[in-house]
Amino acid sequence: MSLGGRFAGRQGLAVVGAEPVGPYTLLRLERGQLEPGIPGQFFMLEAPGRVLPRPMSLCQAPPGELAFLIDPIGPGTRALCELKAGRTVLVLGPLGNGFDLDLERPLLVAGGIGIAPMPYLAEALRHPPAVLGFRTERHAEAARLLPGATVVVEPRLVTDVLPHDPGDVLACGPEPMLEAVRALVPRAQLAWEAPMACGFGACYGCVVEIAGRYRRLCVDGPVLRDAA
Ligand code: FES
Repeated sequence: MSLGGRFAGRQGLAVVGAEPVGPYTLLRLERGQLEPGIPGQFFMLEAPGRVLPRPMSLCQAPPGELAFLIDPIGPGTRALCELKAGRTVLVLGPLGNGFDLDLERPLLVAGGIGIAPMPYLAEALRHPPAVLGFRTERHAEAARLLPGATVVVEPRLVTDVLPHDPGDVLACGPEPMLEAVRALVPRAQLAWEAPMACGFGACYGCVVEIAGRYRRLCVDGPVLRDAA
């Protein structure tokens, strides 16, 4: 399947396991014929019993597997987190634009479930420094997916501990965090979130206004630089 000149596959993948990581779940799937793609790209996962698939960025890509970190915040994500080994999930991807990895001094910055793409990104960038922020100590248990990271828990924020000269920032997290990072580091690469129905530019369900411009996050993003 060619989407915008890039190749994305659609395949039913067997569940290897689902492991708790603090309040989140790491859903491990057999890789099948799908490519892991560029860090920051995403996959559409069909949740059992739900009409619309859920967009998930790849968290880890161990040999033969694709792993997704999921926050069980609704019926679809809960259904994905409750999948047992041997069940099959229909997956489409990789989709969208990932991070630009041609960097001098990368610094990873993530808030909450925004940690999801960071382990795969850290591996691609040979484990650069990282700053992670979480709402609670329990959420912060997810920091074990990124050993060596600086971790803050609210009321402290990731922007409180960014170095004075942060280098090449790659960030993922809730919109207020991304806006705060962008205010401090205008050239940061930011991975935005939006509900998605199709994942490849057809439904306009993912349109968001960023810096005064309307963007389809599934094809223009999810990673945007300089809000351009
Ligand atoms: Fe359909 Fe983006 S999710 S256009």
